[in-house]
Amino acid sequence: MRPSPPPRTYRVKSFGCQMNVYDGERMAELLAQQGITPAPEGEEADLVVLNTCHIREKAAEKVYSDIGRLRRVDGTAPLIAVAGCVAQAEGEEIMARAPAVSMVVGPQAYHRLPAMIADAVAGKRAVDTDMPAETKFDALPARRKVGPSAFLTVQEGCDKFCTYCVVPYTRGAEVSRPFKDLLAEAQRLIDAGAREVTLLGQNVNAWRDEGNRGLEKLIEALAAIPGLERIRYTTSHPNDMTQGLIEAHRDVPKLMPFLHLPVQSGNDRVLKAMNRSHTVGSYLEILDRVRAARPDIALSGDFIVGFPGETDAEFEDTLRLVERVGYAQCFSFKYSARPGTPAAEMDGQVPLAVMDERLARLQAALNASQLAFNRASLGKSCEVLVERRGKLAGQWLGKSPWLQSVHFTGEAAIGDLIRVELVEAGPNSLSGRLLQPAHG
Ligand code: 5AD
Ligand code: SF4
Repeated sequence: MRPSPPPRTYRVKSFGCQMNVYDGERMAELLAQQGITPAPEGEEADLVVLNTCHIREKAAEKVYSDIGRLRRVDGTAPLIAVAGCVAQAEGEEIMARAPAVSMVVGPQAYHRLPAMIADAVAGKRAVDTDMPAETKFDALPARRKVGPSAFLTVQEGCDKFCTYCVVPYTRGAEVSRPFKDLLAEAQRLIDAGAREVTLLGQNVNAWRDEGNRGLEKLIEALAAIPGLERIRYTTSHPNDMTQGLIEAHRDVPKLMPFLHLPVQSGNDRVLKAMNRSHTVGSYLEILDRVRAARPDIALSGDFIVGFPGETDAEFEDTLRLVERVGYAQCFSFKYSARPGTPAAEMDGQVPLAVMDERLARLQAALNASQLAFNRASLGKSCEVLVERRGKLAGQWLGKSPWLQSVHFTGEAAIGDLIRVELVEAGPNSLSGRLLQPAHG
């Protein structure tokens, strides 16, 4: 690879989950600390970071086509770094297949980007997919300006080994960040403009500190920070849903009434084949306890249709579960065989046409459930955290406590908590009527 001038501008493109969004922001902060500035809208960047996702589909193929599209008409390309979970899973292969890429860096090693950029400028290509003992969090610069709602990664990795999932391989074992580091980062987020913090982790409710305190203790400590008005957390595993955390939904007013608790399937045989280690019954029993603690809780989940061997009747059980729970929102996916996972080797891979049909039916049921939830909110008065301007003059967009998108018109500013009455409901958003002027 030829030496190139040091990059002056960068662009980070993140795909996939919220943890990748968080990593993308941290990489941007790291690049800014090196004196590299964000490329202006519409202009080409000197350095492009593709922060990739490996969870579904032909993720790697997508990366290669993105790399191809970065090539300029004269055949040259910007400096390209491939980060994220595809980098972790296929580092060497990317290097071999895509000569335009000069850096491949995994999700646990991206604090080393500045040294890799220096190498790339000197014409040396490098792959770093280590999971080093030193944590990236200690090496990253402080948070810059953030929006009213900010992410905070508190836990990474997964020890659950669901048979369809690549995360235990790409993100490694479950690791929790220390309590005091998290309080310090939350304080910095608030100083940088956040009023809501969403705690992130692949298994966020498995978070434990050195003294074995659980996530509810972290939530309680965060709730005591002045200026932090709302706390959320995602994604949780049913098996880590402790009674202490459930009770935090009753006892901590700043903890928002929303729970994302993936179930994946409504059939016990499928759950067992997925190695989920919970049953439909035990999942429903958890939801009962959560509802007892916080009756207005909005529930969300993830579903996979067409897991190997899933029959029509087993799929119907998933539809029945959706009906029974009354989800406020959900994510649903066609099963995607991931190389190296046990499910990819199982008999009974379901044809794509069958998966398409099941997904359409499931999504219709989930949309109906979401609309019903939104309609049931009509007439409620609640606070909306204003996140941005709407398309119409004087219109604002924000989130209700139940994570619904709400738009309203009136006097407000980004970051305000504004009291509205919910007056109209669609499947994806609600409209609110201003009940009180801004109080900042
Ligand atoms: N195929 C389809 N969906 C998957 N998910 C994880 N792995 C796969 C896969 N191989 C879904 C699960 C998980 C969400 C983050 O992505 O529903 O909860
Ligand atoms: Fe994708 Fe999972 Fe990696 Fe997030 S953690 S980027 S969803 S594979």
